[in-house]
Amino acid sequence: IGKSIVHKESTTSTQHIAHDEARNGASHGTIIIADEQTNGKGRMNRSWFSSKGKGMWLSMILRPRISPQQAPQLTLLTATVLADVLHAYCHVTPLIKWPNDILLNNKKTAGILTEMQAEQDIINYIVIGIGLNVNQSESELPEEIRHKATSLFIETEKEHSIKGLIQEILVAFEKAYDQFIKNGFPDVKRKWESYGFKIGEEITIKTLRDHFQATFLGIEEDGALRIKRMDGSTEKLYSAEIDWFD
Ligand code: BTN
Repeated sequence: IGKSIVHKESTTSTQHIAHDEARNGASHGTIIIADEQTNGKGRMNRSWFSSKGKGMWLSMILRPRISPQQAPQLTLLTATVLADVLHAYCHVTPLIKWPNDILLNNKKTAGILTEMQAEQDIINYIVIGIGLNVNQSESELPEEIRHKATSLFIETEKEHSIKGLIQEILVAFEKAYDQFIKNGFPDVKRKWESYGFKIGEEITIKTLRDHFQATFLGIEEDGALRIKRMDGSTEKLYSAEIDWFD
């Protein structure tokens, strides 16, 4: 991981570059980094604010020999790697909001966007995009997201080296990835749950159709959200959001 690194000063989105590179045969572990993204992408078609030199805007190309159904496990693994690195090197206490938002002080400091190209149940490549807010001050975050977003600088009152963080994250990712390929998901699941935001608590869940209260029990083998409804029935959810300002 990271033997080949493509660095752009400014680009629309490192995800776009990663897809281009992957289509052109870029090898497993190729990394795309940008100082600035003019059209950063978040999950659910949202945009991702990526100002120049203030955060880590990175995409990784992976060519794992796992089934497409296991791809969400890799995203959850990435979240645990981020949480581990932030804890060890920035001395903060991160929580992971399902599926993969990293929270500090109940505000989002990092997000992960996984995109996959697969055919007939075989993965051609996966692009994992990580956005990590590092050195923004509060006034440098867009006003619309200030109530729910934060950065390492805001939380620690210190600047952090983006280069240093990239290095730590790539080393930690490679190690965790190798272990995952060897041992499978159980260790990742355990780790994820140790960082899980509101596990065992009552949460508000938003789906496309619905909005309801449930108890968050944990995650499933396949990365799904396991909940208990108020009537006592348990359920697995794949696409839902935990509403965290309730
Ligand atoms: C989310 O929480 O919605 C996911 C955000 C992912 C942002 C990163 S920044 C690097 C990569 N390039 C993008 O355009 N998006 C991801």
